[in-house]
Amino acid sequence: MKKKFVSVTLALALGLSLAACGNSGSSNAPADNTDKKEDTNEPAADDGADAAEDAGPEGSSAANKDKPLVWFNRQPSNSSTGELDTAALNFNANTYYVGFDANQGAELQGTMVKEYIEAHIDEIDRNGDGTIGYVLAIGDIGHNDSIARTRGVRKALGTGVDKDGSINSDPAGTNTDGTASMVQDGEIEVGGKKYVVRELASQEMKNSAGATWDAATAGNAIGTWSSSFGEQIDVVVSNNDGMGMSMFNAWSKENKVPTFGYDANSDAVAAIAEGYGGTISQHADVQAYLTLRVLRNALDGVDIDTGIGTADEAGNVLTDDVYVYREEERSYYALNVAVTSDNYQDFTDSTKIYEPVSAQLDEGSHAVKKVWLNIYNASDNFLSSTYQPLLQNYDDILNLEVEYIGGDGQTESNVTNRLGNPSQYDAFAINMVKTDNAASYTSLLSQ
Ligand code: BGC
Repeated sequence: MKKKFVSVTLALALGLSLAACGNSGSSNAPADNTDKKEDTNEPAADDGADAAEDAGPEGSSAANKDKPLVWFNRQPSNSSTGELDTAALNFNANTYYVGFDANQGAELQGTMVKEYIEAHIDEIDRNGDGTIGYVLAIGDIGHNDSIARTRGVRKALGTGVDKDGSINSDPAGTNTDGTASMVQDGEIEVGGKKYVVRELASQEMKNSAGATWDAATAGNAIGTWSSSFGEQIDVVVSNNDGMGMSMFNAWSKENKVPTFGYDANSDAVAAIAEGYGGTISQHADVQAYLTLRVLRNALDGVDIDTGIGTADEAGNVLTDDVYVYREEERSYYALNVAVTSDNYQDFTDSTKIYEPVSAQLDEGSHAVKKVWLNIYNASDNFLSSTYQPLLQNYDDILNLEVEYIGGDGQTESNVTNRLGNPSQYDAFAINMVKTDNAASYTSLLSQ
């Protein structure tokens, strides 16, 4: 917990916020959600103000099932088909998802790799056999972001094959001879010369305990792959930077093999100066803001677009080149940007908040509220080194007292066990272990 309650300050803040109530609610606020500026969460010392309270869906005295809920990073969806879990996304009137545009990012990653190959064609084919060989680290075969990235790379390099109308995203195993059925050999033509592009190997990086996107597993995999067909590997691609950096440090840096990841974690961006090929920023700075901002807005009873597409009174606003909102999916998606040797200097600190949404909200009109938030895997590189530090920067600005719960990345119950008393919180931010498991959270909130 970052913020301590100071009863006097809060009582004052509460007074101010109640006074401001008449004109601070947006005229566009959802009907069931206007005029709710109270804090239902202050300690006993604030009892004097309680009489003025009108506990609404967002206060901690409201039914848990009516409190604001944001899913983030792992979108409630069927882990086999990718179909969105619309029941979870519409759990109540104040439920949203915050993530990023997986397809746009995947396409960017694929294009980045392809353009790198074309620009370095003279030196990229290390053994000069006319085949550009790459290996691919897959994060989680049941995670739509991971699936999209695998497809994006295969699409750009021409190595994808159709499966049920989309590019097959299954791991190919070892394919040094080009016979695996999940992929095919692609072709790239540069300067009138044709090259074969082959996915030499790919696997899901899952450790024996079940943790996915596992960096250590990726480091071991590149060891195995390089010892048996290392001279064929010209490019290393990874669904994320955690695994990408593990492979870079274990093998590709020393062997000068360009390695591509995703997330723009600070260490990966710094490694671009040392030969890391590039990464994609999924604008975690915008996502972390949106994750907490939708809760803040719901708790304030204002239009959900406040401080997002519409400037708030402190001037916070996002422009539409950094996010999209799809109402039918109840989802906010940050847009991705490629980070390469051309622009990496602009991305060196992945925990820096996004300047257009960095203005402090006034505690008088945005009283402190308590949020329960979990990070599904406390050892996930992206979530722990980029996303959580950003959330911790924004929670102060948005006057949210967030309790951060770190999961083990493997079992949902490791997280849900720590949601024993939802009544203590005003709002919830959930990062599921498995994207199919929304009901294990909503059932706790529905009790
Ligand atoms: C990130 C991965 C991370 C995963 C966790 C993805 O968006 O790119 O690095 O492991 O989220 O769910």
